[in-house]
Amino acid sequence: MKTPIVDFVKRYAESDISRFHMPGHKGKAHLGCEALDITEIDGADVLYSACGIIEKSEEYTSSLFHSAHTFYSAEGSSLVIKAMLGIIKSTKKDGERPIILAARNVHKAFIYACALLDLDVEWLFPKHFTHLCTCNLTKEDVKNAICRMSRKPDAVYLTSPDYLGQVQDIRGISEVCRTYDIPLLVDNAHGAYLAFLEENRHPLALGASMCSDSAHKTLPVLTGGAYLHIAKDAPKTFLSQARTMLSLFASTSPSYLILQSLDLCNAYLANGYGKKLADCIEKVESIKKMLDEKGIFYEKSEPLKLVLNAKRCGYTGEELARYLRERKMEIEFSDPDFAVLMFTPENDEKDFTRLENALASLPKREPFREEKPLPIPNVQTALSVRDAVFSPKKTVPVEDAVGKVCASPLVSCPPAVPIVMSGEVITKEAVAWFAHYETALVEIVDGLSNDMILK
Ligand SMILES: Cc1ncc(COP(=O)(O)O)c(C=O)c1O
Repeated sequence: MKTPIVDFVKRYAESDISRFHMPGHKGKAHLGCEALDITEIDGADVLYSACGIIEKSEEYTSSLFHSAHTFYSAEGSSLVIKAMLGIIKSTKKDGERPIILAARNVHKAFIYACALLDLDVEWLFPKHFTHLCTCNLTKEDVKNAICRMSRKPDAVYLTSPDYLGQVQDIRGISEVCRTYDIPLLVDNAHGAYLAFLEENRHPLALGASMCSDSAHKTLPVLTGGAYLHIAKDAPKTFLSQARTMLSLFASTSPSYLILQSLDLCNAYLANGYGKKLADCIEKVESIKKMLDEKGIFYEKSEPLKLVLNAKRCGYTGEELARYLRERKMEIEFSDPDFAVLMFTPENDEKDFTRLENALASLPKREPFREEKPLPIPNVQTALSVRDAVFSPKKTVPVEDAVGKVCASPLVSCPPAVPIVMSGEVITKEAVAWFAHYETALVEIVDGLSNDMILK
């Protein structure tokens, strides 16, 4: 597979040309990567009007993922999520506000997109809450929700895999969406690699209309590199609107380091990646087998995650993270309940040996006693997401926020999944969730009068 962006920049960096253009480092080494850091000079193409080397490179990616077209983002899935929802809004002809039927475990980029684009959301909740990051649904749940809604949603939106490696039934849910002629959008930030499993499990292959993949999360791509995939059978307007909607939210100075990294990744994926991935999964499986033998608990998850159920092992997630850190390992995410590790074929033997040794000698403890499950939040919407996000606001301790309207989701990354969404009333149940996830402060709408509240 060819790498047109990498080849162009390499030739340019070696050409002894005087740079009278941005960036200001002029290719001189400070960090060391500056020679390869260029801007949209002659021949380098333009990301959001691509018709040269970037378009060519994106075409290679499209063939790898079997999409109608895959567009590059140098600003993560956070940009792609906004663009996907912008595309949906751009298909509305009657001026009506779009409404999205969304599984509750959205990343905050979704909420910001709703604020910027003024979208309404109908939330899908799971039958049983297990964790803030997870919202397991069946296709019947989605069908019933569509039937209950007073107007047909303009899109169904799922996060899969989620931060804890849980995967939705994309095939089943996409069949339901097709029956009602509703596009299915998937935040697949954690799942770019799924296209390269022995059986392709990428949401696009299972019937999604559009997906956002953070290439940088699971593939060897620099932070910020992401894909917007449009399915072959998606409406043609999705394709024609994509670059406009990406550029609506993106910088006009995309990083060519990230674009080269995405370009080079095509060659990586085309040259034996499937085998490397299978080998890596086998190693993760072997660690999981050892954990089974030792009685160390973990959750069922997509194959490139290990989600240790810390509480069942008698630890908090943070304690497990500290235990591994002391043994020279840094993990992706921990909270009171779980410790999450992410693997790729770029993890070497030393990494696996360290982890295996550390987990094999994890001191045994009694599991924590089962806690009462968190109360099901009773969602009451007072303002639209947009009105709440753009309102005057103040930050208060969560205990003082009961009955007030949430202004913006004060959540840190990871996992950046809000507990209460912008515009919702903060209930006593929500305060229990804030306490559980150790969130002390919340931003509320300041000076809200009754006539501003949605009926
Ligand atoms: C589920 C999910 N969606 C979207 C994002 C945003 O992705 P990015 O960091 O590529 O902008 C994240 C980031 O962690 C995420 O976990």
